[in-house]
Amino acid sequence: ADHGHGGDAAEAKKKADAWTAGLSRRSFPKGFVFGTAASAYQVEGMALKDGRGPSIWDVFVKIPGVIANNATADVTVDEYHRYKVTNRPMRADADLDERRLPKRFDISIEQFFFGLQYGTGKVNWKGVAYYNRLIDYMLKIGITPYANLYHYDLPEALEQEYGGLLNRKVVRSTRETSKTARFDSFNSGKAFADYADFCFKTFGDRVKNWMTFNEPRVVAALGYDDGRFAPGRCTKCKAGNSATEPYIVAHHLILSHAAAVQRYRQKYQHVQNGRIGILLDFVWYEGLTNSAADQAAAQRSRDFHIGWFLHPIIYGEYPKWMQKIVKERLPKFIADEVKVVRGSIDYVGINQYTAYYARDQQPNATTVLSYSSDWHAELVYERHGVPIGPRANSDWLYIVPWGLYKAVTYVKEKYGNPTMFLSESGMDDPGNITIVQGIHDATRVGYYRSYVTKLKEAIDNGANCVGFFAWSLLDNFEWKLGYTSRFGLVYVDFRTLRRYPKSSAYWFRDVITDKS
Ligand code: NOJ
Repeated sequence: ADHGHGGDAAEAKKKADAWTAGLSRRSFPKGFVFGTAASAYQVEGMALKDGRGPSIWDVFVKIPGVIANNATADVTVDEYHRYKVTNRPMRADADLDERRLPKRFDISIEQFFFGLQYGTGKVNWKGVAYYNRLIDYMLKIGITPYANLYHYDLPEALEQEYGGLLNRKVVRSTRETSKTARFDSFNSGKAFADYADFCFKTFGDRVKNWMTFNEPRVVAALGYDDGRFAPGRCTKCKAGNSATEPYIVAHHLILSHAAAVQRYRQKYQHVQNGRIGILLDFVWYEGLTNSAADQAAAQRSRDFHIGWFLHPIIYGEYPKWMQKIVKERLPKFIADEVKVVRGSIDYVGINQYTAYYARDQQPNATTVLSYSSDWHAELVYERHGVPIGPRANSDWLYIVPWGLYKAVTYVKEKYGNPTMFLSESGMDDPGNITIVQGIHDATRVGYYRSYVTKLKEAIDNGANCVGFFAWSLLDNFEWKLGYTSRFGLVYVDFRTLRRYPKSSAYWFRDVITDKS
């Protein structure tokens, strides 16, 4: 309290302003939401218990050398059992959940449909019960659920029996039946739309914010171009073709997304009054120089990245650059598909962490055709010897706040300013830091302060952005990096699984509770 020492109060205010950069809920349009994001496989840790069947990731992580320290997500941070434990310390110490922090969580396809038959799913009711408990608990303590239906975890049974997301039957059968327009495809019959339908029916009375896929580009590119993610296919891998498969998979994902959205709109939306969209990863690409060639390379990079998915969804076709370069390797949407794909979002989530420079790089005689060489661009991380930004722990993650501004503004200008939200942003520390080092995360506080400030600028300049979700609430299983990467607002001791809020958690609390 101020006991008449005006100077102290002014000093305190100055300190508080420096801490939050003057940001508060009131800095944002009415209804703007702050939240955190997490995915099923990365936090649940239910392995193969309670009836859950294996996904392609359960199989992939068991290949020696694929994941740092050969870690698995069999236990990870055990949210399957500890979702309440996580929220309790957050409420007591950081006060996050109390303030109605929405939470983006993923429903695992594996929880429901173990041993999916062609077109007929068997429901695992224990998995359903878990999500019912989770959703009810979130609502009880005032957290608004945002549910996403697919986060890299294709049932292994589909991979084995049907060749997974590559199954060409979808495209063919969709074309053959184009008159009756069956868009129920998830590469094997109508599995994805059926699964989505089940989720809408079962949880849609309480879940009003749906997303179909998280980062479908990562699924197609890392799963089928460079083979770094499950199912690990690429030209140089044991099996795969990086010149064709990423495009086929992406096409199937877009059709599956559209099928699920169509189902929601036809059967549920008017009753449940929810909204549905997709989560797309983006990186801001800045031309390395002002030359026309480098500027075009930057545009191609944006087209091959977010445009691959957003362009069809907004305009009904792949970006012109992609059509021009990929030619007959790029699947086409037939007229009936265009109708279902175009406009298939009520809103779009953008996962935005970083930015790179792009430089023109035309193919030569030795260039091997692949999704990434099709960009005709080389990505570089510095200009005149100056890095684009400080690097976090992950090798791909440079901290570039202005990249967020440009990315959001680009989506606004290029795609007609759709309702969007920042569905992921964050940075990681190395896995081996101690609790004390971990919770004093000044760099992360700086990250969020600068990124959220840039987001506010973009909104003030007209971007229709309605939320910001931090990746992630907890340190967790970071795919190839296993536990050697910590993205959380809350530190997790991976031996005891105890949770310790970091400074960044308190930062969020202070911004969203309007204490500044
Ligand atoms: C993107 C993904 O959606 C998520 O699974 C991942 O952990 C984070 N970004 C950080 O890499």
